[in-house]
Amino acid sequence: IEEAKIRYKAPIVCILGHVDTGKTKLLDKIRRTNVQASEAGGITQQIGATMFPADAIETLTQKLPNLSLSIDVPGLLIIDTPGHESFSNLRSRGSSLCNIGILVVDIMHGLENQTIESLSIFKTKNIPFIVALNKIDRLYEWSPSKDEAFLTTFNKQSGHVQSEFMRRAKETILEFNHKGYNAALYYENPDPEEYISLVPTSAITGEGIPDMLGLILNIAQTKLRSSIIYQPKLEATVMEVKTIEGLGTTIDVILMNGVIKEDDNIIVSGFNGPISTRVRALLTPMPLREMRVKGEYLHHKALRASMGVKISAQGLDHTMAGSPLFIAKNEEEIPRLQEEVQKE
Ligand code: GTP
Ligand code: MG
Ligand code: NA
Repeated sequence: IEEAKIRYKAPIVCILGHVDTGKTKLLDKIRRTNVQASEAGGITQQIGATMFPADAIETLTQKLPNLSLSIDVPGLLIIDTPGHESFSNLRSRGSSLCNIGILVVDIMHGLENQTIESLSIFKTKNIPFIVALNKIDRLYEWSPSKDEAFLTTFNKQSGHVQSEFMRRAKETILEFNHKGYNAALYYENPDPEEYISLVPTSAITGEGIPDMLGLILNIAQTKLRSSIIYQPKLEATVMEVKTIEGLGTTIDVILMNGVIKEDDNIIVSGFNGPISTRVRALLTPMPLREMRVKGEYLHHKALRASMGVKISAQGLDHTMAGSPLFIAKNEEEIPRLQEEVQKE
């Protein structure tokens, strides 16, 4: 592995947006999976996590013209969240873990209620973000070029498709203006510090996805460079608590910094007081596979941030989702950490 890929951790990217704007489908397109089709009612109801290794991202961004992107990070850890209005606790929890955000907006609908909610989450938590202006393939008479960079496919569209795109893009930009935000198509953005960048995408045809990934990497490796330096001090949060056949109650944890090992003494907060237990199994899905989909898990002796980790251990039944996770170095540390974990 190159030196840079050890110095930096995978930036944690969270995807937020109104229900059915295509958050999960965008990830499906990148993963070549079909997670969305297996969701009840096509609605995401949990926080998800997928590791996208650097080589996969390199392949996907190859179509960008004038690409001068060297990938210094080991990958991107992308957190999927539900857009349904009743899951604002999950949006809040998912976003509290991330370095950078993608706000998905349906180009046919513009800004909707949870778009506005997501905007204020990013603002309050001071998270830099881009907008994926998704579903461009739904523009009347759009002629798709599979997986192409946006401008490559846009330049091939007929005049009336191009003007229809521009009309809708401008309308969305105006809606952002009315909410107090400057916004611009990313390739026309006069000042990314002042203007939100809009990346036109389609989760069905893959168009614009190279641009979206390229832009995220670019921001992560410039503006956010110092915040993605790997830190050995443990930072981890419980995202979800789940019963898995054969494993019992497990917790899905986002490891933001540091290392977790098999047999580590972990401490999390629980509904009936703090929980202290030993890691029995440290699991991850395969790379490019969604953590929240029950499938084959890889077993590990130790894992280093950033990573989505499933932990199996005794006594996790009443774990509180959203709890921080601590590791006690020795028995003496346990009481102090138990007290600390219940405070947060
Ligand atoms: P929640 O997680 O429930 O908030 O929804 P979501 O934002 O994850 O949207 P999802 O991926 O479930 O997609 C919603 C619907 O829109 C599905 O029927 C998708 O097939 C469709 N869809 C998503 N992206 C696109 C797109 O780019 N083009 C078209 N034509 N349809 C899309
Ligand atoms: Mg979804
Ligand atoms: Na959906």
